[in-house]
Amino acid sequence: MVKTYRVAIVGLGRMGSTIDDEGHTTLPYSVASATTASSRLELVAGCDLVAEKRERFTDRWGVKAVYEDMRKMVEAERPDLVAVCTRAAGTDQREAPAADYRVDLHADLTVEIANLGVPMLYVEKAMACSMRRADEIRVAIEANDCALNTGVLRRFDNRYEPLRDVVLGGRIGEVKVAVHYAPSSLLHGHIHSMDTVSWLLGDPGIDQVRGQFDDADYVIEGNHVPFDPRATYQLRFDGGVDAWSLPAAYWEFEILGTKGSIRSFNNGTSSQLRLATEGGGWDEVPLAPVTPTSTVVSCLEDLVDSFEAGRRTRGHVEITHQITQACLAVAESHRQSGRWMEPAEVDPDLYVFHI
Ligand SMILES: NC(=O)c1ccc[n+]([C@@H]2O[C@H](COP(=O)([O-])OP(=O)(O)OC[C@H]3O[C@@H](n4cnc5c(N)ncnc54)[C@H](O)[C@@H]3O)[C@@H](O)[C@H]2O)c1
Repeated sequence: MVKTYRVAIVGLGRMGSTIDDEGHTTLPYSVASATTASSRLELVAGCDLVAEKRERFTDRWGVKAVYEDMRKMVEAERPDLVAVCTRAAGTDQREAPAADYRVDLHADLTVEIANLGVPMLYVEKAMACSMRRADEIRVAIEANDCALNTGVLRRFDNRYEPLRDVVLGGRIGEVKVAVHYAPSSLLHGHIHSMDTVSWLLGDPGIDQVRGQFDDADYVIEGNHVPFDPRATYQLRFDGGVDAWSLPAAYWEFEILGTKGSIRSFNNGTSSQLRLATEGGGWDEVPLAPVTPTSTVVSCLEDLVDSFEAGRRTRGHVEITHQITQACLAVAESHRQSGRWMEPAEVDPDLYVFHI
């Protein structure tokens, strides 16, 4: 018989419970609906500070075990998997309410839940607002041998798998450049774009980073960015591949090699492979169509499969730490006039507010 795992959700808002109503996709999207859709998972409890959210969650999902306090929920329900679906900085506001506001709720909850001994954790992105807290998360996850994935969902989107296979299978030759297309904020958006580029390239190390806020004159004061800045970046991966973000188009990605390119259009809706011909130039080569599956189901089931097999998750803490560091290094590079830097040069206490 297939073993099922007990899932509890912290934060019963859109990502925890209701985002399916917004029409982004017909596939299960909230953690509650993805859990319900999976034969490996059982939704057992939910937690929110707001009584009305708890009531709506019970009505919608038939789960009576609801709590105001995360620790009480974990101690009473002993879930196998907890999903952290609160806002990152613990407020609904788009900007920090004060110049010294340094709340980092994803980090607080992740460290606390890992230390409570929960074996599997899904954490909404970005997992931390500073490297000080990302370092703490890595320590807690590793010390407790906890399996972690975060909500960078293109990593779990089967429409990107053929692109990755093309790149890693050498079909476009030696990879030279990766491009991400879309205007985007840094911690809310580029955590996704950097993670996807990294995934498509096989998660190499990141050697150097540079970047700039769209407001090139913005001056960071007090090691604190009180909003999530729109930004562009360049990453130099180990082995010499350069990744560029271009602030236009709708979430597209292209990987270019010596013998061709693979491009994803319109937020994963379609893709195009072009390969070098003998006569010169690059011709389009058909790709098999992909029927999309739920990214959140895939992400949660990867946790379970990895836990059972004793292997690293697809979005393990090392890679999440690396991408978080690269994102925050863009802010550090902006502060230092857009210079190239090693990701580890980011000041650990540089805090970037985001939702
Ligand atoms: N990966 C994705 O595709 C995706 C999509 C949507 C949102 N998100 C992310 O999900 C996170 C949540 O966003 P949302 O739009 O669902 O927010 P939301 O405001 O709709 O829901 C957050 C909920 O958390 C609750 N909460 C706050 N502090 C809490 C605490 N200490 N304990 C328990 N509950 C608490 C709030 O009351 C609220 O109901 C954000 O980080 C956002 O970036 C990711």
